[in-house]
Amino acid sequence: MTDEGVILVTGGAGYVGSHCCIDLLNSGFKVVAIDNFFNAYKDPTGATNYPESLIRVQKLTGKSLEFHEVDLMNMDELRSVFKKYPKITCVIHFAALKAVGESFQKVLAYYSNNIHGACNLLSVMEEFKVFKLVFSSSATVYGVPEYLPLDEKHKTGNCTNPYGTTKDTVERMMIDLANSNSNWSITLLRYFNPAGAHPSGDIGEDPLGIPNNLMPYIAQVAIGRREKISVYGDDYKTPDGTGYRDYIHVMDLAAGHVKALQHILAPNREGVHIFNLGSGKGATVLEVIAAFSKASGKEIPYEIAGRRKGDVDSLYASCDKAEKELDWKCGLTLEDMCRDMWNWQTKNPRGFNPNA
Ligand code: UFG
Repeated sequence: MTDEGVILVTGGAGYVGSHCCIDLLNSGFKVVAIDNFFNAYKDPTGATNYPESLIRVQKLTGKSLEFHEVDLMNMDELRSVFKKYPKITCVIHFAALKAVGESFQKVLAYYSNNIHGACNLLSVMEEFKVFKLVFSSSATVYGVPEYLPLDEKHKTGNCTNPYGTTKDTVERMMIDLANSNSNWSITLLRYFNPAGAHPSGDIGEDPLGIPNNLMPYIAQVAIGRREKISVYGDDYKTPDGTGYRDYIHVMDLAAGHVKALQHILAPNREGVHIFNLGSGKGATVLEVIAAFSKASGKEIPYEIAGRRKGDVDSLYASCDKAEKELDWKCGLTLEDMCRDMWNWQTKNPRGFNPNA
């Protein structure tokens, strides 16, 4: 790797992280990725210590990136990366636990990984005088919406699940930090519901165990790994009574990160910048099932089950701010997400690990 500025990507092996690495490499950035393999599959040949997702990212782009196995809970491991790459100019911070349901069972694991992990990262960044950060946050910080579409001025907090509280807490920590030291430039990206996969079908979402999220669960029903999908509630205040969410193609989301990075790398960006990344429109659970069934040509059996704890009726974004300030908006549709997810699922029926 040359001595030019590099971008450090935490959680680079994961779903959004790996797709973002593709766009970063294609946009000419030098990338160093770190991950603790908590939710990623290692190179099955054993030839490298790289995650399989990032091996494929390099094949797809024809460009190389550097990878190190690092757990954010270990400050010394983290310091060793900043020592090795003194030209890190910005960090994109994805690494976190992210399953809403699981966060009710593993409260301390969520608080310690997500909050303590971010705190360690910021401390080491300060130590090495790296003051630019893009943070992977979530629309879940808005809690129960007081109005729709959700814009960035909507109040945050009062989250409906521990995972959301950890994201909100980390946001607040970052805002306090930037207020206390004017060297910091921090961008908070609040994602809505990422779905889809790279159009090659070579990388995609590979949840360990039973998927928590709607789209990967539906994909596994379509491929025959699971019998049917439970629809969590049909008595919400939505067009057909099922939950209404703003789905965003992961390639649009990746492009949003590159735009946010270019924005924060420009001069005079000190302070905190907050952007929603969503499509601005949504779909109900039954609409998503129908779209996936059409894209895959498969029937998707489902049953109506009770409401899931912590769910809200509707969530969708206003993305005007990102469009105006980052010159970014979604170009891909729910149909594109279903097609690309199905392509990934059929090419990799068991995800990255053929023996899973
Ligand atoms: N759903 C089902 N059955 C399932 C899974 C989900 O009916 O098996 C429904 C949910 O009730 C909800 C919709 O599908 O109405 C979407 O649920 P997801 O679990 O896919 O996504 P969430 O909206 O709950 O949460 C997601 C991410 C969070 C993020 C949030 C932001 O998982 O990390 O979007 O909007 F914070």
